[in-house]
Amino acid sequence: MRDAELSDLLLRWYDRHARVMPWRVSPQDRKAGAVPDPYRIWLSEVMLQQTTVAAVKDYFHRFTARWPTVSDLAAARDEDVMAEWAGLGYYARARNLLKAARAVVADHGGVFPGTRDGLLSLPGIGPYTAGAVAAIAYDEAATVVDGNVERVMARLFAVNTPLPVAKGELTALAASLTPETRSGDYAQAVMDLGATICTPRNPACGICPWSHACAARDAGIQAELPRKLPK
Ligand code: ADE
Repeated sequence: MRDAELSDLLLRWYDRHARVMPWRVSPQDRKAGAVPDPYRIWLSEVMLQQTTVAAVKDYFHRFTARWPTVSDLAAARDEDVMAEWAGLGYYARARNLLKAARAVVADHGGVFPGTRDGLLSLPGIGPYTAGAVAAIAYDEAATVVDGNVERVMARLFAVNTPLPVAKGELTALAASLTPETRSGDYAQAVMDLGATICTPRNPACGICPWSHACAARDAGIQAELPRKLPK
Protein backbone atom coordinates (compact mmCIF):
# COMPACT_ATOMS: atom_id res chain seq x y z
CA MET A 1 0.00 0.00 0.00
CA ARG A 2 1.31 3.46 -0.89
CA ASP A 3 2.22 5.93 1.86
CA ALA A 4 -0.51 8.34 0.73
CA GLU A 5 -3.14 5.60 0.92
CA LEU A 6 -2.03 4.72 4.44
CA SER A 7 -2.18 8.31 5.66
CA ASP A 8 -5.59 8.79 3.99
CA LEU A 9 -6.95 5.70 5.74
CA LEU A 10 -5.75 6.97 9.08
CA LEU A 11 -7.16 10.45 8.52
CA ARG A 12 -10.55 8.97 7.68
CA TRP A 13 -10.40 6.95 10.89
CA TYR A 14 -9.47 10.12 12.82
CA ASP A 15 -12.43 11.99 11.32
CA ARG A 16 -14.70 9.51 13.10
CA HIS A 17 -12.69 8.64 16.22
CA ALA A 18 -10.60 11.66 17.21
CA ARG A 19 -10.50 11.91 20.98
CA VAL A 20 -11.97 15.07 22.44
CA MET A 21 -9.37 17.08 24.34
CA PRO A 22 -9.70 20.60 25.81
CA TRP A 23 -6.87 21.98 23.65
CA ARG A 24 -7.75 20.10 20.49
CA VAL A 25 -9.62 21.51 17.50
CA SER A 26 -11.76 18.67 16.13
CA PRO A 27 -11.12 17.57 12.54
CA GLN A 28 -14.60 18.87 11.64
CA ASP A 29 -13.95 22.32 13.12
CA ARG A 30 -10.49 22.32 11.53
CA LYS A 31 -12.01 21.72 8.09
CA ALA A 32 -14.47 24.55 8.77
CA GLY A 33 -11.51 26.88 9.26
CA ALA A 34 -10.94 26.89 13.02
CA VAL A 35 -7.26 27.19 13.94
CA PRO A 36 -5.61 25.86 17.08
CA ASP A 37 -3.99 28.32 19.51
CA PRO A 38 -0.22 27.62 19.52
CA TYR A 39 -0.01 28.63 23.19
CA ARG A 40 -2.60 26.01 24.20
CA ILE A 41 -1.04 23.35 21.95
CA TRP A 42 2.41 24.01 23.36
CA LEU A 43 1.18 24.02 26.97
CA SER A 44 -0.67 20.73 26.44
CA GLU A 45 2.29 19.06 24.76
CA VAL A 46 4.65 20.03 27.58
CA MET A 47 2.16 18.75 30.16
CA LEU A 48 1.63 15.51 28.22
CA GLN A 49 5.30 14.60 28.40
CA GLN A 50 5.44 11.93 31.10
CA THR A 51 1.82 12.56 32.14
CA THR A 52 -1.42 10.96 30.93
CA VAL A 53 -4.15 12.82 29.07
CA ALA A 54 -6.60 12.16 31.91
CA ALA A 55 -4.26 13.66 34.51
CA VAL A 56 -3.38 16.66 32.33
CA LYS A 57 -6.93 17.88 31.67
CA ASP A 58 -7.56 19.53 35.06
CA TYR A 59 -4.12 21.14 35.13
CA PHE A 60 -4.64 22.45 31.62
CA HIS A 61 -7.97 24.03 32.59
CA ARG A 62 -6.49 25.68 35.69
CA PHE A 63 -3.45 27.01 33.81
CA THR A 64 -5.41 28.46 30.92
CA ALA A 65 -8.05 29.95 33.24
CA ARG A 66 -5.35 31.71 35.23
CA TRP A 67 -3.00 32.52 32.32
CA PRO A 68 -5.07 32.66 29.12
CA THR A 69 -2.22 33.82 26.88
CA VAL A 70 1.52 33.33 26.66
CA SER A 71 1.99 36.96 27.75
CA ASP A 72 -0.03 36.28 30.90
CA LEU A 73 2.12 33.27 31.66
CA ALA A 74 5.32 35.20 30.98
CA ALA A 75 4.26 37.80 33.55
CA ALA A 76 3.42 35.20 36.20
CA ARG A 77 5.45 34.84 39.37
CA ASP A 78 7.69 31.79 39.33
CA GLU A 79 6.30 30.49 42.59
CA ASP A 80 2.69 30.74 41.36
CA VAL A 81 3.51 28.66 38.29
CA MET A 82 5.41 26.10 40.35
CA ALA A 83 2.45 25.88 42.76
CA GLU A 84 -0.04 25.27 39.89
CA TRP A 85 2.33 22.64 38.50
CA ALA A 86 2.52 20.79 41.82
CA GLY A 87 1.55 17.17 41.32
CA LEU A 88 2.49 16.96 37.65
CA GLY A 89 6.09 16.09 38.48
CA TYR A 90 9.25 16.67 36.47
CA TYR A 91 9.48 20.26 37.67
CA ALA A 92 12.13 21.19 35.12
CA ARG A 93 9.23 21.25 32.67
CA ALA A 94 7.57 24.09 34.60
CA ARG A 95 10.77 26.10 34.81
CA ASN A 96 11.37 25.66 31.08
CA LEU A 97 7.77 26.59 30.40
CA LEU A 98 8.31 29.97 32.03
CA LYS A 99 11.62 30.50 30.26
CA ALA A 100 10.06 29.82 26.88
CA ALA A 101 7.02 32.02 27.59
CA ARG A 102 9.30 34.91 28.58
CA ALA A 103 11.43 34.40 25.45
CA VAL A 104 8.29 34.51 23.27
CA VAL A 105 7.40 37.87 24.84
CA ALA A 106 10.93 39.31 24.98
CA ASP A 107 12.19 38.15 21.58
CA HIS A 108 9.08 37.50 19.46
CA GLY A 109 6.62 40.22 20.49
CA GLY A 110 4.41 37.75 22.35
CA VAL A 111 3.75 35.71 19.20
CA PHE A 112 4.91 32.09 18.97
CA PRO A 113 7.42 31.48 16.17
CA GLY A 114 5.52 30.08 13.19
CA THR A 115 7.87 27.27 12.18
CA ARG A 116 9.45 24.20 13.73
CA ASP A 117 12.91 25.77 13.46
CA GLY A 118 11.72 28.97 15.11
CA LEU A 119 10.14 27.00 17.93
CA LEU A 120 13.35 24.99 18.39
CA SER A 121 15.21 28.22 19.11
CA LEU A 122 13.15 28.75 22.28
CA PRO A 123 14.64 27.59 25.59
CA GLY A 124 13.36 24.24 26.74
CA ILE A 125 11.60 23.37 23.46
CA GLY A 126 13.15 20.24 21.98
CA PRO A 127 12.56 18.35 18.72
CA TYR A 128 9.42 16.58 19.94
CA THR A 129 7.64 19.70 21.20
CA ALA A 130 8.73 21.85 18.26
CA GLY A 131 7.51 19.24 15.78
CA ALA A 132 4.22 18.68 17.59
CA VAL A 133 3.40 22.41 17.83
CA ALA A 134 4.48 23.07 14.21
CA ALA A 135 2.33 20.20 12.97
CA ILE A 136 -0.74 20.69 15.15
CA ALA A 137 -0.86 24.49 15.32
CA TYR A 138 0.59 25.36 11.88
CA ASP A 139 -0.06 22.24 9.80
CA GLU A 140 3.65 22.05 8.98
CA ALA A 141 4.57 18.59 7.65
CA ALA A 142 6.78 17.99 10.68
CA THR A 143 7.32 14.43 11.86
CA VAL A 144 6.07 13.88 15.39
CA VAL A 145 7.45 10.84 17.18
CA ASP A 146 6.59 9.89 20.74
CA GLY A 147 6.45 6.44 22.34
CA ASN A 148 3.03 5.77 20.79
CA VAL A 149 4.27 6.57 17.32
CA GLU A 150 7.39 4.42 17.76
CA ARG A 151 5.23 1.45 18.70
CA VAL A 152 2.83 1.96 15.79
CA MET A 153 5.70 2.23 13.28
CA ALA A 154 7.57 -0.76 14.74
CA ARG A 155 4.44 -2.88 14.25
CA LEU A 156 3.24 -1.51 10.92
CA PHE A 157 6.67 -2.19 9.38
CA ALA A 158 7.68 -5.13 11.64
CA VAL A 159 10.90 -3.47 12.79
CA ASN A 160 12.75 -6.08 14.83
CA THR A 161 15.63 -3.81 15.84
CA PRO A 162 15.24 -3.04 19.54
CA LEU A 163 14.73 0.41 21.05
CA PRO A 164 16.53 2.67 21.52
CA VAL A 165 18.73 1.52 18.59
CA ALA A 166 15.69 1.60 16.29
CA LYS A 167 14.81 5.26 17.00
CA GLY A 168 16.33 6.65 13.81
CA GLU A 169 14.73 3.99 11.65
CA LEU A 170 11.32 4.49 13.26
CA THR A 171 11.57 8.26 12.84
CA ALA A 172 12.39 7.83 9.14
CA LEU A 173 9.41 5.52 8.69
CA ALA A 174 7.14 8.00 10.49
CA ALA A 175 8.48 10.77 8.22
CA SER A 176 7.76 8.71 5.10
CA LEU A 177 4.07 8.54 6.02
CA THR A 178 3.60 12.17 7.11
CA PRO A 179 1.33 13.86 4.55
CA GLU A 180 1.80 17.40 3.24
CA THR A 181 -1.84 18.25 3.88
CA ARG A 182 -3.66 17.83 7.22
CA SER A 183 -0.28 17.22 8.82
CA GLY A 184 -1.57 18.32 12.21
CA ASP A 185 -4.58 16.03 12.17
CA TYR A 186 -2.32 13.23 10.96
CA ALA A 187 0.15 13.74 13.84
CA GLN A 188 -2.68 13.60 16.35
CA ALA A 189 -4.23 10.62 14.59
CA VAL A 190 -1.11 8.44 14.91
CA MET A 191 -0.82 9.32 18.60
CA ASP A 192 -4.52 8.55 19.14
CA LEU A 193 -4.14 5.26 17.29
CA GLY A 194 -1.24 4.28 19.54
CA ALA A 195 -3.08 5.36 22.69
CA THR A 196 -6.42 3.71 21.95
CA ILE A 197 -5.93 0.82 19.46
CA CYS A 198 -2.27 -0.04 18.93
CA THR A 199 -1.75 -0.28 22.68
CA PRO A 200 1.32 -1.83 24.33
CA ARG A 201 -0.69 -4.88 25.42
CA ASN A 202 -3.66 -6.50 23.67
CA PRO A 203 -3.77 -4.20 20.65
CA ALA A 204 -7.25 -4.01 19.12
CA CYS A 205 -6.17 -5.11 15.64
CA GLY A 206 -9.75 -6.07 14.75
CA ILE A 207 -10.78 -2.41 14.61
CA CYS A 208 -7.48 -0.88 13.44
CA PRO A 209 -7.62 1.06 10.16
CA TRP A 210 -4.09 -0.17 9.35
CA SER A 211 -4.51 -3.83 10.31
CA HIS A 212 -4.54 -5.23 6.75
CA ALA A 213 -1.30 -3.31 6.01
CA CYS A 214 0.40 -4.25 9.28
CA ALA A 215 3.49 -6.43 8.82
CA ALA A 216 3.66 -7.37 12.50
CA ARG A 217 0.08 -8.56 12.51
CA ASP A 218 0.72 -10.48 9.30
CA ALA A 219 3.58 -12.28 11.07
CA GLY A 220 1.63 -12.62 14.32
CA ILE A 221 4.29 -10.73 16.31
CA GLN A 222 2.41 -7.48 17.09
CA ALA A 223 2.44 -8.15 20.83
CA GLU A 224 6.24 -8.59 20.78
CA LEU A 225 6.98 -5.24 19.14
CA PRO A 226 8.62 -2.89 19.71
CA ARG A 227 11.52 -4.92 21.04
CA LYS A 228 13.59 -3.28 23.76
CA LEU A 229 17.18 -3.69 24.84
CA PRO A 230 17.42 -4.81 28.45
CA LYS A 231 18.00 -1.82 30.73
N1 ADE B 1 -0.02 12.65 23.36
C1 ADE B 1 0.78 13.74 23.37
N2 ADE B 1 0.32 14.69 22.55
C2 ADE B 1 -0.81 14.18 22.00
C3 ADE B 1 -1.72 14.68 21.06
N3 ADE B 1 -1.56 15.89 20.54
N4 ADE B 1 -2.74 13.88 20.68
C4 ADE B 1 -2.87 12.66 21.23
N5 ADE B 1 -2.05 12.15 22.12
C5 ADE B 1 -1.01 12.90 22.51
